[in-house]
Amino acid sequence: MMPVLDAVFHPLEIRMNDGRPLLLRAFDAEDFSALVEMYKGFQPKRVAQGLPPPDVPRIAQWLDRLQTKSRSLLALDGKRVVGHVILCPISDAAVEYTIFVHQDYRCQGVGLAMTRLALQWVSEMGFAEVFLTTELSNVPALSLYRKVGFQTQNSFGDECEMKISVAGGTQTLPRAA
Ligand SMILES: CC(C)(COP(=O)(O)OP(=O)(O)OC[C@H]1O[C@@H](n2cnc3c(N)ncnc32)[C@H](O)[C@@H]1OP(=O)(O)O)[C@@H](O)C(=O)NCCC(=O)NCCS
Repeated sequence: MMPVLDAVFHPLEIRMNDGRPLLLRAFDAEDFSALVEMYKGFQPKRVAQGLPPPDVPRIAQWLDRLQTKSRSLLALDGKRVVGHVILCPISDAAVEYTIFVHQDYRCQGVGLAMTRLALQWVSEMGFAEVFLTTELSNVPALSLYRKVGFQTQNSFGDECEMKISVAGGTQTLPRAA
């Protein structure tokens, strides 16, 4: 089956560990400036393969390019975008995964919830595998990815490539305790 990139992500509310609600939904073109705003204040810049870019013109250019070749999932606190997952097809079977959670919202279970739901969405789109690259020094990212079930494929220099299979649904993925 060919992947269907326009598979619908049904918006849903999640609760952060402290009980506050966030809305998760697919990115829409109207979200562009709110997303730029998240990255404007995002720290640290350039934490993942040079991303996010360090200034607004380059952030806007990056996000503009992404719109044409990927799908995105947002976490919103009211109108404020606080989390962003990027799903970029790299073949008919595979997607590249990237996630950014604003520093004000980290360690609240947002990354975990977004990653699980994004993997489910990818599976519903008909993709079989999800790849990512992260720096070996990025302990939060590595811990999150391992917890969700990503496994290291290769290490090169200070980076590693990880992969997870989502073929046949995500109900078989390991769940956090
Ligand atoms: C990586 C990132 C997305 C994690 O998001 P988050 O919402 O803070 O993560 P969660 O609160 O859902 O944590 C999920 C799990 O990740 C791990 N984790 C998250 N933050 C961690 C930290 N600071 N130290 C160690 N492990 C951490 C833990 O295993 C955690 O599970 P636990 O809370 O049961 O221990 C976030 O830190 C981030 O946006 N960092 C900057 C951008 C980035 O590096 N993106 C990855 C690109 S490859």
